[in-house]
Amino acid sequence: MQEGRTFLCVTLNPVVDTALYVDAFRPVYRTDAHRITHTAGGKGNNVARVLVGMGRRATALAALGGASGRHVADLLAGDGIAVAGATVSGDTRVAVTIVDRNGEQRGYFAPNAPFTPADADAIRAAFYAALDTARAVCLCGSSPGPEADALYPEFLRAAAGKGIPTLLDTYGQALRLGLEAAPDVIKINQKEAAGLLDRDFTTLTGRVEAVLDLSTQAGRWAVLTLGAEGALLADRGTGGLWRASPPFVEVVNPIGSGDAMAAGLLAALVDGDPPERAFRLGMAAAGANLQTWEAGRVAGAEVEALLGRIYVEPLV
Ligand SMILES: Nc1ncnc2c1ncn2[C@@H]1O[C@H](COP(=O)(O)OP(=O)(O)OP(=O)(O)O)[C@@H](O)[C@H]1O
Ligand SMILES: [Mg+2]
Repeated sequence: MQEGRTFLCVTLNPVVDTALYVDAFRPVYRTDAHRITHTAGGKGNNVARVLVGMGRRATALAALGGASGRHVADLLAGDGIAVAGATVSGDTRVAVTIVDRNGEQRGYFAPNAPFTPADADAIRAAFYAALDTARAVCLCGSSPGPEADALYPEFLRAAAGKGIPTLLDTYGQALRLGLEAAPDVIKINQKEAAGLLDRDFTTLTGRVEAVLDLSTQAGRWAVLTLGAEGALLADRGTGGLWRASPPFVEVVNPIGSGDAMAAGLLAALVDGDPPERAFRLGMAAAGANLQTWEAGRVAGAEVEALLGRIYVEPLV
């Protein structure tokens, strides 16, 4: 039964990520690019791409609208990700990133289309239809508007009610509400945590307090990521706490490394791995993502290769 099951990755605010590669930024009207890439963006879509890279089956449930929504669906399918699309009224966002030859980036994001109660209903219908074949559910990325915030706890509770493990990675009101549903894994970065918790994030003590705070709201693990400084994982069940450092690799583009971390943690959760091993897999997936341009386009072999190069130390 588990064989046909899939990691259901929910992205309520997807985006067509278009990157134009230029020689240099110039203050002129026209600059010709020498390369273009389109990626199905949004955090859950990135997680799905990493999971597929790691040899898992993933389904992207994304709010899709207009031609840009169809483009996201095509891109997901091209990446080997099953699409459980929910058709919404507004056009899916488009973001354009200009990248120069030194790897410097400038991103331009289209505004969000309004998100309506009917859009929420369309996503609900797609979610419940997809839930029966889910082996795990992750809810990742920003909420497209206040109408969507309540979907986070609703979906987490629905998954938990069927015994399906869950992971939450978002911020603001969607995070606050989602935490009330006690997701198995909470994975957020320092900035997202600072919006939620009144702790001193400049010190290890403050960061440890923050991840322990978070773990009281997690079913299993809370992970606080710290960019180049690595991450902390707290295991609610045992009170265990670990710190991990990133592997020494060339950082091509860190964007999406948090999503790769989420993919590794979720894969380990489903496999029944202990927290330290899950942390290592998450860090290895993040490390693989650091070395790629496109968010989430990681190779499973690279993740495997990095597993032994992650330094994880217990703090308690
Ligand atoms: N500049 C970097 N150098 C080394 N490792 C990094 C760097 N940025 C990120 N990482 C690795 O990736 C992990 C996740 O990164 P980060 O804390 O930036 O997550 P994030 O902000 O959620 O990222 P995103 O939302 O873009 O996916 C870190 O714990 C670290 O292991
Ligand atoms: Mg993130």
